[in-house]
Amino acid sequence: MNQGNDLKEFDDLKILGYTIGETSSYELQMISSEVPEIGEYLSIYDDEGTEILGMVENVIRGNRITNELKEYGAISKLKEFEDEDEIYTISSIKILGDTKNMQIPRRPPKPLNEIYKTPKQTLNKVFANGKLEVGKLISSDIGVSLDVNKLCSRHLAVLAITGQGKSNTISVLLEQFKKLNATVIVFDMHREYLEMESYSIDLKINPIKPKINVYNMHPDSLMNLAGVDPSASIQRSFGRRAILGLNKEHEEVEFNSVEEYINSILNRIEIYADMDEYKNKLDSLITLKMRFEDLLAYKSKITAINYNPISGIKENRINIVDISELDEESTDLIISYFSKEILKDRKKSFWNTKTANPIFIIYEEAHLVIPQNRPTKSKTPISRIAREGRKFGVGICLVSQRPKTLDQEALSQCNNFIISKIIEPKDQRYIQQASESLSEDLITQLPSLNVGEAIVLGPCLKIPALVKMNRFNGVYGGEDVMFDELWSKTENDLSDKTLGKSIFEDEEDEL
Ligand SMILES: Nc1ncnc2c1ncn2[C@@H]1O[C@H](COP(=O)(O)OP(=O)(O)O)[C@@H](O)[C@H]1O
Ligand SMILES: [Mg+2]
Repeated sequence: MNQGNDLKEFDDLKILGYTIGETSSYELQMISSEVPEIGEYLSIYDDEGTEILGMVENVIRGNRITNELKEYGAISKLKEFEDEDEIYTISSIKILGDTKNMQIPRRPPKPLNEIYKTPKQTLNKVFANGKLEVGKLISSDIGVSLDVNKLCSRHLAVLAITGQGKSNTISVLLEQFKKLNATVIVFDMHREYLEMESYSIDLKINPIKPKINVYNMHPDSLMNLAGVDPSASIQRSFGRRAILGLNKEHEEVEFNSVEEYINSILNRIEIYADMDEYKNKLDSLITLKMRFEDLLAYKSKITAINYNPISGIKENRINIVDISELDEESTDLIISYFSKEILKDRKKSFWNTKTANPIFIIYEEAHLVIPQNRPTKSKTPISRIAREGRKFGVGICLVSQRPKTLDQEALSQCNNFIISKIIEPKDQRYIQQASESLSEDLITQLPSLNVGEAIVLGPCLKIPALVKMNRFNGVYGGEDVMFDELWSKTENDLSDKTLGKSIFEDEEDEL
């Protein structure tokens, strides 16, 4: 074999085995004395000395003598004379491409070609070239770092069943983003990130209590927020009339507070109620009025006027939008409203200055925000960012434990994937439909991944890899609860404590 220049560079080259049988440009079989691990990287050098990378996909071990034997007695006798030399190991290797351009070789490797363990230098070149350090290859201790530009501009999906490490992955990414001074926004559904702390860096989190501008809302959305029944057509039509009439006659700046604005709507409803011609609609008008009074009483925390949602977002910081206390409808309103305004703002900034400070937006529980089979308000702006964001420096990350219920269109705009354990075949197929690069072989790995292990693929990494994600060096909320530890803490204190003494008592009102 012509070993070429590449080969001589490395001092840790070790022959592992040889190609056997027929080879192709995509796959080959290797016979070896050592047993390689699934996911391990191997190198073959072609006649020009170009290093070609392969990955072990399957390993079979057999014993020539006993393979055909199906008799217990004979086998147990043979066991006494067991000879290691009779055991063979055959591995299926998938060819990933040459280490320079990751292109599939035009000619298949020769039969009986030497196969080496890929040298560390090569693995570093391929996997540790990016700025976001996220973990290590499962098959070795080579660090894996992702290309931040490709990750953000080509969007990301973080998918796995519950408890497999999605939030840990997001925490790891946030810490890495902080080191790069990134502008990131996380819609935090479960207060997982609001109080997160890293032991290695001050994350300088900017917490955002989101609010909705009642003046800018579509009348129907405002009525949804107030709790007006969507099928109550009489209430809806009076409500629309009151809101549209008010907004037509008065500019937003004329109102000093949300109370003033809602009270003006209430005044209009009262006027209708006093009119003789609407006497037979009085019941509807009274209910409508009650709904707006409820809005004043219970939703004051999330409503605002003369307010721009994105004014609270700080550039070059990790912004955590706390939506943990909102109901589904308000969550949808807030997320759609923020997403729309962010894209609008970045577009404007891009057109004015030709550059826009890029933003990366993380949507937790994405299957609730942009579900496949149900319309939500957030679908339109998020799909829009997924399609157009790249041009204006807005990237998204969808986090979900139920991929098959996630909007297929948005998911298929995500080119980068960090996928941990996924058991359900329907989920697996669904992800495969959205991602061209998730091969059948990778799919078969998904059910067997352990906590914290993930397949990382997409433009953020030169080739797909099985990665043991770093454990976040700090604390975030929502980690597994240690039931026994917490119960045993109160072992000596059996003073008949009751529930309902929440530390959030002062904010107990339902939003
Ligand atoms: N990379 C990792 N290394 C070690 N442990 C991990 C890793 N990722 C997750 N874990 C463990 O698994 C638990 C659940 O992880 P989490 O990220 O909260 O799961 P998810 O968000 O998918 O429900 C964590 O509390 C942690 O103990
Ligand atoms: Mg989680």
